[in-house]
Amino acid sequence: MGLRLKLFILTFLLSMVFSETQGRRTIEKPGPFDKSDHDVFEVLGSGGINNGALQVTPDSGGDFDLSKKSGRIMLKESFKIHDKVARVASFNTTFFINIQNRISTSSHGEGMAFVIAPDLVLPPGSEGQYLGLTNATTDGKATNRLVAIEFDTFKQDFDPNDNHIGLNINSVKSELNVSLSDSGIQLVPEVAKNFTIWIQYDGLNKILQVFMVGEKNPEPAERRPSVPVMTKKDLDIAKYVSEHSYFGFAASTGSAIELHCVLGWNLTVDEAPEDEGLMIEAKIALGVGVALLVILLAGWWIQRILYKKYKTANDPTIRGTLQSLPGTPREFRYRDLKVATDNFNEKNKLGQGGFGVVYKGLLSKESLQIAVKRFSRDNIKSKDDFLAELTIINRLRHKHLVKLLGWCYKNGKLLLVYEYMPNGSLDAHIFCGAEKETLRWDLRYQIISGVASALHYVHNEYEQKVVHRDLKASNIMLDSSFNARLGDFGLARAIENGKTSYAELEGVPGTLGYIAPECLHTGKATRESDIYGFGAVVLEVVCGQRPWTKIGGFCFLVDWVWSLHRDGRILEAVDERLRGGYVAEEAERLLLLGLACSHPNGSERPKTQAVLQIASGLLPVPYVPPFRPAFVWPSAGAVEENIDSEYTDDSTVTISH
Ligand SMILES: *[C@@H]1O[C@H](CO)[C@@H](O)[C@H](O)[C@H]1NC(C)=O
Ligand SMILES: *[C@@H]1O[C@H](CO)[C@@H](O)[C@H](O)[C@H]1NC(C)=O
Ligand SMILES: *[C@@H]1O[C@H](CO)[C@@H](O)[C@H](O)[C@H]1NC(C)=O
Ligand SMILES: *[C@@H]1O[C@H](CO)[C@@H](O)[C@H](O)[C@H]1NC(C)=O
Ligand SMILES: *[C@@H]1O[C@H](CO)[C@@H](O)[C@H](O)[C@H]1NC(C)=O
Repeated sequence: MGLRLKLFILTFLLSMVFSETQGRRTIEKPGPFDKSDHDVFEVLGSGGINNGALQVTPDSGGDFDLSKKSGRIMLKESFKIHDKVARVASFNTTFFINIQNRISTSSHGEGMAFVIAPDLVLPPGSEGQYLGLTNATTDGKATNRLVAIEFDTFKQDFDPNDNHIGLNINSVKSELNVSLSDSGIQLVPEVAKNFTIWIQYDGLNKILQVFMVGEKNPEPAERRPSVPVMTKKDLDIAKYVSEHSYFGFAASTGSAIELHCVLGWNLTVDEAPEDEGLMIEAKIALGVGVALLVILLAGWWIQRILYKKYKTANDPTIRGTLQSLPGTPREFRYRDLKVATDNFNEKNKLGQGGFGVVYKGLLSKESLQIAVKRFSRDNIKSKDDFLAELTIINRLRHKHLVKLLGWCYKNGKLLLVYEYMPNGSLDAHIFCGAEKETLRWDLRYQIISGVASALHYVHNEYEQKVVHRDLKASNIMLDSSFNARLGDFGLARAIENGKTSYAELEGVPGTLGYIAPECLHTGKATRESDIYGFGAVVLEVVCGQRPWTKIGGFCFLVDWVWSLHRDGRILEAVDERLRGGYVAEEAERLLLLGLACSHPNGSERPKTQAVLQIASGLLPVPYVPPFRPAFVWPSAGAVEENIDSEYTDDSTVTISH
């Protein structure tokens, strides 16, 4: 944000504060008027709203006697005209009038006036020469508190003629009168005419000006003549009118009659500042205080805006990406997740991954258990990880994948909400101590089949090929029926079709023991390296040992199992805790599958479709050589080159549970 913008905001805020004490109010009533305008106007005396106009005196010629009537039509709301220190409002008004006598062209009377009055009252006896302004008793008295511009059409003995305007203060005897005949204007012409009148009062310079043209002007502001018909300098209306006054029109008829119509009216008032009960010093002090406060607030506000801008600039994609996700998952409120996890209480911690901590939570309103993954804030790359995980997992739908329920992004905090898996992660069941019952064989088998099925889905069936990158027992979740659910796509990346591998990454993906040897060279995860991880998982599930277990003189579980295979006693690798409670044929098949997947050379490992078929017994286990082959680098056949042909094989087998 530029300095200019900041200054602009400051000025804007300050002007807002000061415009609270001095406001501009505009009334726009371009006409025609109708009955609904009774909400806005107080109609007094003989006035009425008829035929699209404010009829200040009656218009129903013929039916009534129109003579000796007076009326006023006033805006119901009052305006602050001046304060105690004599600061005076300014106002501009434009209106259309039409004064006519339909019955006779030879006589007309008495006239009308634009008036500023202290109340919404019409004095009795204000007909005839009094123009609805005063009466015989009150005329000329300061208590009237009236300032008016009269449009006089009847010559009284105090009038110059029957076609003039005048400035009236508390009296129908004008302070100033100007004959309109000099300006070529006839207020009551033989053929009815609409006049546009502008009255401007500048409260600062105390000048009143009246402009007038003899037609209803479609663009009053543009067609206003440059020369006023009447100017009054040094007119301080504060001396005469009430602090709070009303604007409107007054008119009267005498023995001579005419119609007094207002066809449209706009009024803009810059009101005087409110000051009730406040000394000027107090006001100044208050003003300065408010200004200071505003500056402080503005500073704070601007800083917040800048901070937010800065942050948004750093991750412009996050919200947009989240909201544009297809079939957008639910957006959770941070507050709700905080409550659900008891403020991310340690005791609700389910686990910790490379990119954040997972908490158990309860949305009590829906009595829904959830797992909330909170991404670590310090991790600069975590936003990318977040988006990667979300984009992928949101589009993956499979019964062996942990379902993403929603997300939350607040103040740079990234949270993903998953289905809660009541049985936790697989590792907790395999590597449990004596206190926990070990996982039954049929469940172990079911879990491996489930993982194979999920892997096949993400590698192939999903339109955009995905590698998991971090397949390990602690990332395999178990639902209430001990079905495997693949979770934690924190390391997953979409492989665009056609590319052999996903983007380079810093360091090596996955976790020691699950990492395919080629990854140590390339640092790239591939579908082959996922298969390697799967092999490691199969072996640990069947053997009940971690991949990096030093066992039988070997550093890794896989080498030990391979040696047992060579010696023809592979079943000795099966977890002792099962106490023989397993199906030997199945166990052998899985162990050999695990070894086949652990082939040091990626291109030699079975693909997921074969893995699925082997696991379900539809395909025989591939030949596993007695000695673990040497790792060849670079590998003879380029790693994923011939994959697509294999994957286009349509003989898909689906395993259902
Ligand atoms: C009245 O109009 C003049 C320009 O003709 C303008 O400068 C002034 O601000 C206006 N005042 C009000 C109260 O509208
Ligand atoms: C009142 O203001 C409106 C909107 O600016 C304008 O269309 C109309 O002509 C004005 N009428 C008068 C009487 O000035
Ligand atoms: C003039 O109006 C006042 C009230 O504003 C009233 O008391 C008085 O009687 C009226 N005078 C005449 C002559 O009607
Ligand atoms: C109003 O007009 C009459 C008649 O022309 C004149 O005597 C009188 O002085 C005028 N009043 C003012 C205030 O100009
Ligand atoms: C005056 O204005 C009214 C309402 O806008 C219109 O109906 C009428 O024709 C006009 N009269 C003249 C003489 O322009």
